[in-house]
Amino acid sequence: MPRIVFISADGERTEIDAAPGTTVLHLAWDSDVDIEGACEGSMACSTCHVIVDQASFERLPGLSEEEEYMLDLAWGVRPTSRLGCQIVVTDELDGMELTLPAETNNQM
Ligand code: FES
Repeated sequence: MPRIVFISADGERTEIDAAPGTTVLHLAWDSDVDIEGACEGSMACSTCHVIVDQASFERLPGLSEEEEYMLDLAWGVRPTSRLGCQIVVTDELDGMELTLPAETNNQM
């Protein structure tokens, strides 16, 4: 099982063995990691914003136009920002580190 690491805005690490096929948003929900996901994955809120470590970011499929648009509206966006609801866990993402922004914007 790939291990996914969430890092809170104040540096606390939570390591989770994730089932491939789950999204980062659902993994966070199931593991009491503090990601809101207000629109439940329909790309309408950006409250699932995560900052991906560079190496893992390069392994992810590209962003859709909708994801790019939502990220433009998110708080604290970095070059490796993604929406957690759009990242599907795969074996190749073992060790992925996801930093949570200190704040989120809810566009809903
Ligand atoms: S949960 Fe709303 S955009 Fe991802």
